[in-house]
Amino acid sequence: MATIRLGDIAPDFTADSSMGTINLYDYLGDSWGILFSHPADFTPVCTTELGTAAKFKEEFDKRNVKMLALSVDGADSHAEWIKDINEVQQTTVNFPIIADDDKKVSDLYDMIHPNADNNLTVRSVFIIAPDKTVKLILTYPASTGRNFYELLRVIDSLQLTAYHKVATPANWESGEDVVVSPAIPTDEAREIFPKGVDEVKPYLRMTPDPTA
Ligand code: BEZ
Repeated sequence: MATIRLGDIAPDFTADSSMGTINLYDYLGDSWGILFSHPADFTPVCTTELGTAAKFKEEFDKRNVKMLALSVDGADSHAEWIKDINEVQQTTVNFPIIADDDKKVSDLYDMIHPNADNNLTVRSVFIIAPDKTVKLILTYPASTGRNFYELLRVIDSLQLTAYHKVATPANWESGEDVVVSPAIPTDEAREIFPKGVDEVKPYLRMTPDPTA
């Protein structure tokens, strides 16, 4: 197990899942990806998270992001648990859940933090760009369910900043003003961003979202 850091290439793997054998790179193709771990099957918070994730799939699809969950139980257990999730969350889990009973993928991605729990994964999130570099890593404890609106928001920021010379300020939502990349001089920024550049400070220049 090696520590994975931002900018690293996401390690490839082949694993069993609730939808059969999956190879990460084949599954992602040229899309973005989100890989998120769940401590275990038949646990309450995970049940709410996976139901919520299923309801958000259309939003991830719109952003060209393939979803891939993981839990440290086997495929048969996942199949039974998915029936419960669909029932109690009134949805259809419509993306694969990796069956990681041998903890191969959890170890590869350092999802088990022994001082938190020796056997279960924490709630890890990895967002992977089409070039397979890791663009975002989040780690939540088992006791805190993730906010899927925040995951979409951060994907909007990652995709905008990947293709435009901007950064996004605190609490930014798609369509709001963005920060001009500090590396660009203001006179150059005025040429790149025809919607206008507001120089609040020489180091803080705002411009309308170039995609809005
Ligand atoms: C849960 O998903 O509810 C959960 C899993 C492990 C520990 C605590 C909560």
